[in-house]
Amino acid sequence: MSIHSRLRPAVLLRHAIRNQRRMKHSTAYVTTPIYYVNAVPHIGHLYSSVIADTLKRYYALKGADAYLCTGTDEHGLKIQQAAAKNNASPLDFCDRVSESFRQLCDAADISYTTFIRTTEPRHAKAVAALWTELEKNGYIYKGKHEGWYAVSDEAFYASNQVKEAIDEKTSEKVMVAIESGQRVEWTEEENYKFKLSAFQEPLLKWINDNPTAIVPGNRRNEVTSWIKAGLSDLSVSRLRSRLDWGIPVPSDPGHTIYVWLDALANYLTANGYPWPNKENSVSDSQVANVWPADVHVVGKDIVRFHAIYWPAFLMAAQLPLPKQILAHAHWTMGKQKMSKSRGNVADPFEVMDTYGVDPVRYYLVRDGGFADDGDYSEDNIIKRYKDLAGQLGNLLNRSTAPALNPNAIAPAMPQNVGARDQTLHAKLAALPDTYDQSFEAREFGKGLAAVFDMLAEANKHFQDNKPWDLAKDPAQKERLDQVLYYAIESCRVAGILLQPVLPSKMDTLLTRLGVPKGKRSLSDAQPSREKQVERPLGESRETVLFPRLKK
Ligand code: ME8
Ligand code: MG
Repeated sequence: MSIHSRLRPAVLLRHAIRNQRRMKHSTAYVTTPIYYVNAVPHIGHLYSSVIADTLKRYYALKGADAYLCTGTDEHGLKIQQAAAKNNASPLDFCDRVSESFRQLCDAADISYTTFIRTTEPRHAKAVAALWTELEKNGYIYKGKHEGWYAVSDEAFYASNQVKEAIDEKTSEKVMVAIESGQRVEWTEEENYKFKLSAFQEPLLKWINDNPTAIVPGNRRNEVTSWIKAGLSDLSVSRLRSRLDWGIPVPSDPGHTIYVWLDALANYLTANGYPWPNKENSVSDSQVANVWPADVHVVGKDIVRFHAIYWPAFLMAAQLPLPKQILAHAHWTMGKQKMSKSRGNVADPFEVMDTYGVDPVRYYLVRDGGFADDGDYSEDNIIKRYKDLAGQLGNLLNRSTAPALNPNAIAPAMPQNVGARDQTLHAKLAALPDTYDQSFEAREFGKGLAAVFDMLAEANKHFQDNKPWDLAKDPAQKERLDQVLYYAIESCRVAGILLQPVLPSKMDTLLTRLGVPKGKRSLSDAQPSREKQVERPLGESRETVLFPRLKK
């Protein structure tokens, strides 16, 4: 008797549905923080967006339907005050600055599928629905709040989280938050509170059961120790008389919803939350299909909000938790955190103008800090630019230029691996897996270093085999083809793997190598999986991929 005939029809149907689902494309949902519009973007913001875009494109490289959500965070005291300082109405001010963040995304080739502004009606609807859910489930109550508040962080701090300090400008004695160094003020009012204290154990269990829920490990440990130190309930509204630039509490419009509850909900707004019917939403609507998020990319300054408040809100609303919070470190300049308030910022538009979009993206992903901060310097951008030009651009040019390759072909894979080709052959064969493992582990720098390590070997191979001499002797045609195969194949494999970071340059490179659009996925990077036959190269062999810098 076959195993199937023993199963009941309902079970069979379930199996069939499951198999069908499996055959459907997997999805991936990646997010950036939504940025405050109190000032225009700097390199730090671009960094988060490039990391998130790289991840999204990496998932697409693996065949997933990938989504990326970014946007701007426009409510709260911080923005209300910034607008007043600029003599603008809050919305006019937000329109203007939000637009500059959108322009940055477009300029940097950030392939977002949704750009959220928290002042949009669809977002107000999502936030109100989330609030109502929290209230309905009994996690919201009215209480008296007393404590320190930092407008710059939009965060509450307990007495043991603040200290006295001297204001640099005025020499006044002020109170600041120990964690962020930002100024705090005493607030006392009646407002709504969220029962965060109820989530101490569930949060610890979540972190424990999901070792990669918070990455890297130093952040995970930090979060664990915060939770273990005890979680008190969180104020989640302000009196409308104190703060009116925000979304009103649905059941009590005299209160405005706390800006972090508002902001975090953007990740749901992008999925069309509130879903019409919880049970059916997953199969009904394509957008809802992508919750929970696969990766929330954030800076280390906002880990508390994403790794404690956000999962607690979601648990309280009985929604699935994100699979990963990826917290990167900061870019410093002159060893000080690059920040709008400090003024030591690099203008991302200017930098991309000078070095090109893709080289800047490459520099950020290759050298940006994850566990530890990285110091930003144009000298290092130039250094990375030279790697791109010298290792990749050069090999591409030499192997495809008419001097060595008059027929403009990518030769077929050699029948056997000769002794002189073994090292490079092995490196090429191992690279896609090394790259994939590094990217899965969010060690992007390591994955990119592996690509360039292979390219260094490819350049050495080219140099050692002197194809310019082989080209002079017709009897050496077969060897010349083998040498060209390895050079072109190295460019092709590097080109495929570098697409998430350098999308436009690698499109040019792969087109030039005659690699069709449908043959550029991660599985195509493995040369041995498919016997490669000779193919014609593409057009425009003359353009230089990474032209000499003017600077
Ligand atoms: O915190 N280095 O917005 P924000 C690296 N609206 N990354 C940096 C950086 C630096 N020097 N400076 C900023 C907010 N960033 C909230 C977020 S999300 C629901 C709400 C990046 O404009 C980093 O990702 O202050 C940081 O977490 C984010 O910008 C903060 O941007
Ligand atoms: Mg900030």
